[in-house]
Amino acid sequence: MTRRPPRALLALAAAALATVSITVTVTVAAGHPAPVTVTLPTGGLPYQDPSLPVADRVNDLMSRMTLDDEIGQMTQAERSALNPQSDLATYRLGSVLSGGGSAPSPNTAQSWADMYDSFQRTALSTPLGIPMIYGVDAVHGHNNVYGATIFPHNIGLGATRDADLVQRIGRATAEEVSGTGIDWDFAPCLCVARDDRWGRTYESFGEVPSIPSAMTSIITGLQGTTLGGPASVLATAKHYVGDGGTTGGVNEGNTQLSEADLRAIHLPPFKAAVDRGVGAVMISYSSWNGVKMHGNHYLITDVLKGELGFSGFVVSDWAGIDQIDGQSGFSAADVDAAVNAGIDMVMVPTDYKGFINILRAEVNNGHIARSRIDDANRRILTKKFQLGLFEHPYTDRSYTATVGSADHRALARQAVRESQVLLKNAGGVLPLAKSAKVFVAGKSANDIGNQSGGWTITWQGGSGNTTPGTTVLQGIRNAVAGSGSVTYDRNGSGIDGSYTAAVAVIGETPYAEGQGDRPGGLGLDQEDLATLTRLRASGVPVVVVLVSGRPLDIAAQLPNWNALIAAWLPGTEGNGVADVLFGDYAPTGKLPMTWPRSTSQEPINDGDGQTPLFPLGYGLTYPGGGTTTPPTTTTTTPPPSSGCTADYTITGTWQGGFQAEVKVTNRGSTPMGAWAVSWTWPSGQAVTNVWNGMYSQSGTAVTVRNASWNGTVAPGASVTFGLTGTGSAEIPIVTCS
Ligand code: GLC
Repeated sequence: MTRRPPRALLALAAAALATVSITVTVTVAAGHPAPVTVTLPTGGLPYQDPSLPVADRVNDLMSRMTLDDEIGQMTQAERSALNPQSDLATYRLGSVLSGGGSAPSPNTAQSWADMYDSFQRTALSTPLGIPMIYGVDAVHGHNNVYGATIFPHNIGLGATRDADLVQRIGRATAEEVSGTGIDWDFAPCLCVARDDRWGRTYESFGEVPSIPSAMTSIITGLQGTTLGGPASVLATAKHYVGDGGTTGGVNEGNTQLSEADLRAIHLPPFKAAVDRGVGAVMISYSSWNGVKMHGNHYLITDVLKGELGFSGFVVSDWAGIDQIDGQSGFSAADVDAAVNAGIDMVMVPTDYKGFINILRAEVNNGHIARSRIDDANRRILTKKFQLGLFEHPYTDRSYTATVGSADHRALARQAVRESQVLLKNAGGVLPLAKSAKVFVAGKSANDIGNQSGGWTITWQGGSGNTTPGTTVLQGIRNAVAGSGSVTYDRNGSGIDGSYTAAVAVIGETPYAEGQGDRPGGLGLDQEDLATLTRLRASGVPVVVVLVSGRPLDIAAQLPNWNALIAAWLPGTEGNGVADVLFGDYAPTGKLPMTWPRSTSQEPINDGDGQTPLFPLGYGLTYPGGGTTTPPTTTTTTPPPSSGCTADYTITGTWQGGFQAEVKVTNRGSTPMGAWAVSWTWPSGQAVTNVWNGMYSQSGTAVTVRNASWNGTVAPGASVTFGLTGTGSAEIPIVTCS
């Protein structure tokens, strides 16, 4: 399936048309004796000749454009604001967008394609017939479209560390986007999320620049190796620059960093994107040291366009220029600051007439040089020519059937498998046997909306059966079909001790952007805590599947869980989670973010000297499936009739480190308050983290004491603390007192 007829055929067609043109002589009023001749294009002009170099076509077209033609190209309007639709032609608009959830009715691939073609026909009705370019946020698949394949959000893709997989996801997304006519994707977000309280953490591939830099492979998937190939969609590196580094993780906030740190942490993914030929860059709402990015000439023009050599075009964020002067709406000052800083296209997105009038006035009064307008147009038109929009402006309907196709869903399922991060597996409770008797609970067990997260069908996303797919529960049912049994109750009601295991699918409900900021804490909600309490009371091993857009504050609950999988926001293919739960795929995911012991540690990042609950890169697998050795337990001498004993179990190992759990049992006849467990490790082995206990290490001697929240331990009862450490996973001789 190709998007465009072969170039040779196009050249032949252009030559045939070259002889045909219509010349209209307009004789103007007295005082202007020379008649004005306007040649209306009929396909025979140089800019319409695909055999010519793009630069020549751009030059020829621009030589025919008026200032209003050029200003129109720099203006992007939201589809729902275009009333009447003919304004697209009247004002020569260069671009239309769908904001999050802005869809035609009915919301089907077919009606998207019809809508796109209708807008394009209007755009082509202008004297110069410049095609419009249409942008959407397809940030985890073509997520505005009902029935589209919804892939894991970027945080899950970062956990895969699989750049090739991510490139294939870009290609699949481009096919679905192209099948609806759309030719521009406001993705990928290359944000480096440094504070998990930020509502867009899940749009980040990882907290260190190396991960999003590697995942710019999605750009090649979206655009193809060169623009204009089959199902080629313009990609957008966003949000430039430092959106994930704001103080307190406040969305659209202030990134307070030295230039050296800004360059070291937040710039590398954009350089990687430019090196991959990304066609567009979107500016961040955030500020750098108090200066709004939308007005930052140094970073946009000198660094991005100059130093990095970005030759595509720069687009503002939604009404982003309005924020420059701190007043609501946009002003002449906003327009001057944004366009002079180097923004080439403005996502207005509603008052496009007002914007055009101000921009025209600011050029005519010299506040904005015509050369800046010309540069912006050269950039925009170059991408339109390279995309092949002049030769093939309408939907290639041969891709429409790819929307939600079985092949794409299979790819998404593989992405879900690879994104799962196994954080705990006490006693090797996982993988579950397919003959198991499984109890499934949790608000996100049977909820496509929750497992897809924000930017799904609507801007904020939403709980419920929002689009076709397979829930985690359905995936579990599919896995045990025929040999095991599955009981489901959202709240865990009805569980008893007869079950092999309880799977609790819990976490966050959907959100997007600032609505997801959580400055007050990252703990579980009351519904989840109640469900977990109910499950634990049954005495059945509890396996937690955490569906969330970021690490959550779960250290206090973790000792009560037998296993924990970070599922992130997997999208429509919940089978992929079940594949890991039942061992059809041994987990390989690695944390793309440091996992805090509590929200009070935020921002917490690799190398900042804090001790996390789980470090960046942490992830377990199954025995035989990779780096985890079978659990090994040792117990002190036969249980005394007083004092306490400690069972030290290795629950996971990885290159250079390991995880262990220590169960402290009260062997006496009275409640035990304070306890202390001690051991000596080989030299060079060090604790990196302890949860549910307070540790100290002096040389090779380690002691873990009860934490204030441990309370007292009844006679015969136990309390468990966990730890991670560097070095080998040797079992020490432990003493308990
Ligand atoms: C939003 C987001 C940006 C998105 C744009 C268009 O506010 O910040 O990521 O591409 O508007 O929907």
